[in-house]
Amino acid sequence: MTTEEVEELPAMYARSAAHAKDAGFSGVQIHAGHGWLLSQFLSPLFNHRSDGYGGSVEARSRIVLAVIQGVRRAVGPSYPVGIRINSTDKMEGGLTEDDALEVVRLLDQTSLDLIDLSGGTYFLGAKAASDSSSPGPYFVEFARRAKSVTRVPVMATGGFKKREQAIDAVASGAVDMVGLARAMALDPHLGNTWLREEGGDPDFPIFESAPPSGITDWFIMRLAALGEDREEAFDLDVPTAMQQFEGRTKFHAALWREALLR
Ligand SMILES: Cc1cc2nc3c(=O)[nH]c(=O)nc-3n(C[C@H](O)[C@H](O)[C@H](O)COP(=O)(O)O)c2cc1C
Repeated sequence: MTTEEVEELPAMYARSAAHAKDAGFSGVQIHAGHGWLLSQFLSPLFNHRSDGYGGSVEARSRIVLAVIQGVRRAVGPSYPVGIRINSTDKMEGGLTEDDALEVVRLLDQTSLDLIDLSGGTYFLGAKAASDSSSPGPYFVEFARRAKSVTRVPVMATGGFKKREQAIDAVASGAVDMVGLARAMALDPHLGNTWLREEGGDPDFPIFESAPPSGITDWFIMRLAALGEDREEAFDLDVPTAMQQFEGRTKFHAALWREALLR
């Protein structure tokens, strides 16, 4: 991207945020994690720029701060604006936890209402945040460090599977709230379920020797079933989910190509 192209970004993000607000969403989250565009600016592995947007952590964060400002201006002072950043890219040469802590220090000086800490990168051969089958939440200890350098509320997303884990993370002071993805895909009422002590935890399926991307594909197909109100009948195994996901992607890609290249 040229410097001029980079400078167009804040207005683009601002326009999207304004659309979301107009459409009735109760808040927006700027995505600066998981290897997407702003995440690539933050990451020394991807960002080799020699203009003002590359180099030190401050310079790599510059476009992110400009986007926050643009979004805030577009949605007004009292509309909730959060951000998701990586606590680590989980890639050699990528954003480290020490770098990410510096980013949090810079975010503290902004009008943000929430910092959501995640990790991982959607990139060939890299680990995504939803690829792990670890038994516990992933980013809580980093969140604890982050909370010590900011007054902005901090959330950690990744690996919460049990009510007790969520309670521990909040009660220990590491986070102000927890983010849930796969657990909510299994039980979309989980927020309410966990308000009750006897609410119980979702049953995470056990995937024998499934490739990591296959597990994400399975959850994507599960979300699609939820969206179409047919989750009661959802019982795909991983290979079938992968096959259906591939077909769905091809179908959508054709639609998009037709709509965008017209
Ligand atoms: C099917 C699926 C789709 C996802 N899509 C997105 C996405 O569009 N944007 C995003 O930031 N994270 C996305 N994620 C990652 C989740 O937000 C979350 O960071 C990750 O799954 C770890 O949290 P969990 O352990 O609660 O699932 C997705 C995860 C899954 C399983």
